[in-house]
Amino acid sequence: MASLTVRQLDDAIKTRLRLRAAKSGRSVEDEVRVILREAANGPDAGVSSNSSGGPVEDAAPVRRPRSATKSKLPRVTLIIGGGIAAYKALDLIRRLKERGIHVRCVMTRAAQQFVTPLTASALAGERCYTDLFDPQSEFDAGHIRLARDTDLVVVAPATADLMAKMAQGHADDLATAILLATDKPILVAPAMNPLMWNNAATKRNAAQLARDGVSFIGPNAGEMAEANEAGVGRMSEPTEIAAFADTMLRPLNSRRLAGKKIMITAGPTHEPIDPVRYIANRSSGKQGYAIAEAAARAGADVVLISGPVDLDDPAGVQVVRVESARDMLAQVEKSLPSDIAIFAAAVADWRVANAGEQKIKKTQSGLPKLDLTENPDILATVSKLKQNRPKLVIGFAAETENLIANATAKLKRKGCDWIVANDVSPASGVMGGDRNTVHIISANETESWPVMSKDEVANALVKRIADAIGAKA
Ligand code: C5P
Repeated sequence: MASLTVRQLDDAIKTRLRLRAAKSGRSVEDEVRVILREAANGPDAGVSSNSSGGPVEDAAPVRRPRSATKSKLPRVTLIIGGGIAAYKALDLIRRLKERGIHVRCVMTRAAQQFVTPLTASALAGERCYTDLFDPQSEFDAGHIRLARDTDLVVVAPATADLMAKMAQGHADDLATAILLATDKPILVAPAMNPLMWNNAATKRNAAQLARDGVSFIGPNAGEMAEANEAGVGRMSEPTEIAAFADTMLRPLNSRRLAGKKIMITAGPTHEPIDPVRYIANRSSGKQGYAIAEAAARAGADVVLISGPVDLDDPAGVQVVRVESARDMLAQVEKSLPSDIAIFAAAVADWRVANAGEQKIKKTQSGLPKLDLTENPDILATVSKLKQNRPKLVIGFAAETENLIANATAKLKRKGCDWIVANDVSPASGVMGGDRNTVHIISANETESWPVMSKDEVANALVKRIADAIGAKA
């Protein structure tokens, strides 16, 4: 936007003053006194909402609670830049909110070509800010308030142009003014065509921003919006950005598992039939990965032993990839001793005893005969260890019927300390989905948790573990 003339600014201030006066019932002159007093008392001091228009001298200053401060939610100011990935920023609002983060949106002018402030407002549950010279918010230096009244500023998508402006310290619109005025950490999620990302100018700007202390997530490699183009430039997925933002927001406040070693298994196993075929199951690994990430966030030293899944490595976790149940057991044994062990993997119960060395051929003489043999039970093996048994061993029970009874029997049979039981009947949508309903079963109690996202289950489980081992809050 072109810079404002003194006349335009003056008109905006007068309009705002008249509006304020009309709303409060005070004279314009009294309204100015209120503003001066607010300024003298600091940013949080307000006046009573005296609608009767009484003299301002009588209006006692009161604390004006702001919604997020009142609820103590961590706060993100989300700056949405103008790129095709702006539509993903809408999902990011949801993902941040799912994690209990208060979101306030700001859109650049270009962003509004892709998504509307109305959609962002509806998802965030509060007004989306767009204009540096908005008489309503700028009357009390809104860009300074938006820059400071937050815990983290996230820029997603960050276009090449927005990054260039940040690196140069421009402040000619609301987004850049906030980025220049903020004293809070900044997380940038770039999104642009690979040629733009690889351009020397963008590289210089990214390096400068990194030197200035700006954090980056992505961009990822993959398909571009432009037909037939691929490379590095895709914005990180909203779930990844939300997880990273969450880590930045709660860096140390809950590092209750610092110094603890946690071993986690996740995902399915693949049991070979021959070199090209295998037996598998539908486990996505999402719950185990979420637990690994939550435990790492809580400061634990995490080893994640994962079967084949289509998930990125969680931040701050050592990932060991395996295929079969026997590989998984070998890696689990290698990772001992461990303080806590969590077995979230859906390990195949059986493998093919006579797996072919070569690809099994179709023959005229009939179907091949596959002999099944039992796989080692990793959870039971570790639970029954005489030496090096982790202090807390947690198993999972995925059941399609008689959930609690079956899970309780499993707790006894396997000898673990807790079972996290979940209903995986097709109607529940748990397998491969993002939500879960679990019951925590131990020798003397069953705790049923409400429906939560898998990330929330992970956070709650990590908290429950920290409570159980007496880790200080
Ligand atoms: O017996 P079931 O597969 O239902 O038991 C589930 C629990 O046991 C999970 O925690 C799973 O990771 C673990 N398990 C294991 N090794 C196996 C089978 C199950 O660790 N072979």
